[in-house]
Amino acid sequence: MTATDSSLAWLTKLAEARREELEETPEIEGRLPSRLSGTLYRNGPGLYERGGVTKRNLLDGDGMIRATSFAEGKVRFRTRFVRTAKFEAEDKAGRFLYPTWTTPAPRYWENIPGYPQLGQAGVTAVVKAGLLHAFDEVGLPYALDPATLATTGPVDPAKDLTRNDPDKEAGKGPVDYKAHTKTDGETGDWVLIGTRGRVKQELHVLVKDRDGRRRAQLAIPSPRSEAYFHDFFWTRPYAVFHLQPALLSALPMVLGFRSYTDSLSWKPETGSLLVVIDTSGKRAPLSLEVPAVWMWHGLNAHLAGERIVADFVGFDAPDHFLGPAAAFRNIMQKDRASRSRRGCSGASPSTWHRSRPGRRSSPRAISSFPWFIARWSGESIATGS
Ligand SMILES: [Fe+2]
Repeated sequence: MTATDSSLAWLTKLAEARREELEETPEIEGRLPSRLSGTLYRNGPGLYERGGVTKRNLLDGDGMIRATSFAEGKVRFRTRFVRTAKFEAEDKAGRFLYPTWTTPAPRYWENIPGYPQLGQAGVTAVVKAGLLHAFDEVGLPYALDPATLATTGPVDPAKDLTRNDPDKEAGKGPVDYKAHTKTDGETGDWVLIGTRGRVKQELHVLVKDRDGRRRAQLAIPSPRSEAYFHDFFWTRPYAVFHLQPALLSALPMVLGFRSYTDSLSWKPETGSLLVVIDTSGKRAPLSLEVPAVWMWHGLNAHLAGERIVADFVGFDAPDHFLGPAAAFRNIMQKDRASRSRRGCSGASPSTWHRSRPGRRSSPRAISSFPWFIARWSGESIATGS
């Protein structure tokens, strides 16, 4: 089965982010359940263009919160940008000033040292401890008032909210939080991961209870500092990192010649590394070599005796994301009419991933990109002590 041009054309709509902040009362067809009450928060890049410069990739852009509130049979929809330091500075300047994941800053010298220094807070939205957190993959998340959507500033989740004394341990947590966090279905614990250091990287895991008390905070040296990863697995007490072989060549980026994503190379021959961290501290961290696969998101993980079973959506390669012909990049092209005629993907349509004994279960078409459901079932715990 192949992805056709027309099947991808709808994705171009994702590149048409509105830059104005909305306050609307949508019309309702039919009737909402009267007891439906609450707010759905979503986050995502909402500003692709400033001063005539357009972001290169669909996943790049300043964070915009979309809040859809339900109460008494009515709906209220609002959007607000996250007022990050980056957003405020660029808004004042009327142009982009900083490099982001995929797009260099307009002026060469603004791209040194290349690695994005200021977060866009544009990936996820999580409500914890009465705060709406907007996460990126750079720096700390930003906090917003869940009611007004006003940005209050960066906040460090490592801080123990039950302590009044100066919390020195909080300062030892991640410098760069990953955007995806997990809430333990049984305990309600909030699990976060992140990194510290960019050349020699540490992997961090932070576990907080419902009251904001820090249950666990662990860090280990990464066995593969140059790997880009996006999500992780959690099955208490184990956090599992998937260090896929998307490897950073830092020098051109540090010298300002390439963006971060243009400095990543997919090297499947290197394989992936799974790093298992026991947050109870009873077992030593474990690193396992597994076949290469690109992973955006984990689906679930659970313990089966002495095994960890982890399900995720896997791709043969990140060719939809990385490289000059990536679909996520072509979507951003301004020539929409032309793009519409040939579909948004300039990349060669890839074939669907065929069976991989022992690594795949129940493939199902939800996307035009090649993907498969994969499952790791490792002996990690039994050999990890
Ligand atoms: Fe994600």
